[in-house]
Amino acid sequence: MTSVIKKQQRFTGKAKTVYATNEDDKLILHFRNDTSAFDGEKIEQLARKGMVNNYFNAFIMQQLEKAGIATHFEELISDEECVVKNLDMLPIECVVRNIAAGSLVKRLGVEEGIDLLPPTFEFFLKNDALHDPMINDSHIIAFNWATQAEIKQMKTLTYQVNDVLKKLFADAGMLLVDYKLEYGRYNGKLVLGDEFSPDGCRLWDAKSREKLDKDRFRQGLGGVVEAYEQVAQRLGIALPE
Ligand code: TMP
Ligand code: ASP
Repeated sequence: MTSVIKKQQRFTGKAKTVYATNEDDKLILHFRNDTSAFDGEKIEQLARKGMVNNYFNAFIMQQLEKAGIATHFEELISDEECVVKNLDMLPIECVVRNIAAGSLVKRLGVEEGIDLLPPTFEFFLKNDALHDPMINDSHIIAFNWATQAEIKQMKTLTYQVNDVLKKLFADAGMLLVDYKLEYGRYNGKLVLGDEFSPDGCRLWDAKSREKLDKDRFRQGLGGVVEAYEQVAQRLGIALPE
């Protein structure tokens, strides 16, 4: 059992709340049922979503740790909460795409569903008011958002995650279309932070190409949490009733 004690609220995001703890280098993440799209324009509460994402994220972070990728995840402490390392987060989102979808399709006018070989890599600035604009390495250096070494590490780590997770989902009959990762500094090292859940990636059934991720919410397809639970079940993640 954990000895970490929840203290004051530090920060509330669109879907998670971050709490300080009695230990300076640990935080508690609370995964809420709030589900947001279009940079917070559309927000709804979906029953069980916080719990499903908390268990989902724990499972994925543990798989990544096993593969040698340092993450902030420490332990689950309740159905909707986990303890994480207190990272100094970079204001950057790293997106790798294996298949064209979402903003790439809109931006470049390409067809949804085409394979991207090699997978593409993009940086976005984490800023809802500006709708997370795409940025490049020179913006990151010019505005001091990260160092050249950190840029290199973010690319290497995000592609490494792709190798691990593409296979994990493929073995369970799913396609990892794309995903977003965020990193932070911890004891001078870059460590994977935030979350990995169907809120921040695209997953399709490998045969039918049915969408099993937050696009169901963005596009009003319904069955959002049911799809997340189906993905969890296919991965063998045990969820409470
Ligand atoms: P995009 O197609 O909207 O650029 O998103 C690519 C992937 O990254 C998709 O799986 C959703 C995820 N993502 C987020 O979760 N939050 C974000 O703010 C952004 C820009 C992308
Ligand atoms: N994660 C972002 C939001 O909640 C973007 C999106 O998922 O559409 O607004």
